[in-house]
Amino acid sequence: MADTKPVKKLTIFDLQAKVDRGEKIFQVTAVDFPTAQLVDRAGIDCILIGDSLGMTALGYESTVPVTMDEMIHHAKAISKAAKHALVVGDLPLGAYHASSEDAVNSAMRMIKEGGADVVKLEGGEDFAPMAEAVIKSGVPVMAHIGLTPQLMSKLGGFKVQGKDASTGVQLLKDAMAMEKAGCFAIVLEAIPDRVAQIITERLNIPTIGIGAGPDCDGQNLVLHDMVGLFDRFSPKFVKRYANCWEIISKALEDFQEDVNKGEFPKAEHSFTMKEEEYRDLLQHLPKS
Ligand code: KIV
Repeated sequence: MADTKPVKKLTIFDLQAKVDRGEKIFQVTAVDFPTAQLVDRAGIDCILIGDSLGMTALGYESTVPVTMDEMIHHAKAISKAAKHALVVGDLPLGAYHASSEDAVNSAMRMIKEGGADVVKLEGGEDFAPMAEAVIKSGVPVMAHIGLTPQLMSKLGGFKVQGKDASTGVQLLKDAMAMEKAGCFAIVLEAIPDRVAQIITERLNIPTIGIGAGPDCDGQNLVLHDMVGLFDRFSPKFVKRYANCWEIISKALEDFQEDVNKGEFPKAEHSFTMKEEEYRDLLQHLPKS
């Protein structure tokens, strides 16, 4: 579909304004130019260049091996498609963990080379100094706490976080530390709905939930999960809105069947030449 309507590019301030008006924030991942166009034109507020692309687009078992160079490669294509949405670039494992200097350098790459508007980083209190350094350098940061897949070895796998009082309180402390560091929003992943509700009530910045119940200020889904393009597993918090795997598999089967039956290509898919040019061609064919 042609891209004709003039659109306003969203900023971090528009997200807060939505929350102030009592509206929800929507964030969905994209991995390349066409998926980013789909997300952008659907009116989603934030396109997340999530490091989940390591699993959905690159075939890794987890997000752990994803590099900064891989993120930038995808970010370049995604950011070109975003006419309306705020583009959030994830910083992958190793891009900010050793020092604030690393964090600032990685964030700058994501903005300068990748074309993202803001960055996201996983982690709570321990990573507040890194977030603060990036924000001081001029790049807005979205925080991400709860199930932080980059540290899944430490967490013991893809597990719901904050299920008891002490870990629930620690999540609130993490969220407050990231707000204090200056983050403009925070993703809450795979935590009990009641913990997410408390965090949402206590924070001034918007919370964006993925597996964190209905009380967050916004909701996030991974595009490949919601449209059925990732067949390895489906977390409990995913709602599948389409089965693109089935649709594309059927198209591929139909294509082979059509060719075998002589149903494709037909005249409308072929290029013709004028009758006299054809006769001329036959006359000039080399002798076999
Ligand atoms: O990488 C990603 O897709 C994410 C979301 C799960 C929030 O970080």
